[in-house]
Amino acid sequence: MSSPHETIIAPSILAGDHSNLISSLQQIEKSGAPWVHLDIMDGHFVPNLTFGPQTVQALREQSNLFFDVHLMLDNPHDYVDAFIKSGSDQITIHVEPNYCVNETLETIRNNQCLCGIALNPDSPVELIRPYLNLCDIVVVMAVQPGFGGQNFDKQVTSKIQLLDRWRYELDLNYRIEVDGGIDSETGKLCRLLGADTLVAGTSFYKSTDKKSFVSNLCATN
Ligand code: DX5
Ligand code: ZN
Repeated sequence: MSSPHETIIAPSILAGDHSNLISSLQQIEKSGAPWVHLDIMDGHFVPNLTFGPQTVQALREQSNLFFDVHLMLDNPHDYVDAFIKSGSDQITIHVEPNYCVNETLETIRNNQCLCGIALNPDSPVELIRPYLNLCDIVVVMAVQPGFGGQNFDKQVTSKIQLLDRWRYELDLNYRIEVDGGIDSETGKLCRLLGADTLVAGTSFYKSTDKKSFVSNLCATN
């Protein structure tokens, strides 16, 4: 099946220069990628820390990119309001922690923000099925969340295919985003399987010609 959506590349600012995030944001703007992916980590759900709503808001004031905010938190329900206020365009929460996922997705939606559900590599895809009708996007993690620069786990390819099939069978319209280990090769593979949104951190910031990197990942052949 082919995705009903145009392909979008969402460079992850996690792999940017944290002493100069504005310049990292501008590099995304210049590349032609319409989204920036912002990874929020709490040191509990994942073994790393990044930044919070204050940083997201400060970046928001400097950019018109679409802010794709990925919350890797044990208690996302306690923080969605702050991330909505900070100017997120889309907020993704993980299915694994113990909290009311439905209610949290609804809070995001009711505040004119797009919402998504994210799935760790070792979580079965069936876990997110009950939430698909509430989601604008589904995020398939192809690495254990917490750090950039890890290798793509090919075992997630069957999840992408199944989510693509469910999208068709259930007549839903969610995007399928793959996050972790995306480069020109793994990105093309994901697209072939039905993904339409690719997060690229390390490969994006390492590429010397970011415009070509982005357009190659979006190219149809
Ligand atoms: C990992 C993050 C990813 C990360 C991807 O926990 O969710 O978004 O930035 O980085 P790369 O593309 O380097 O794997
Ligand atoms: Zn992410």
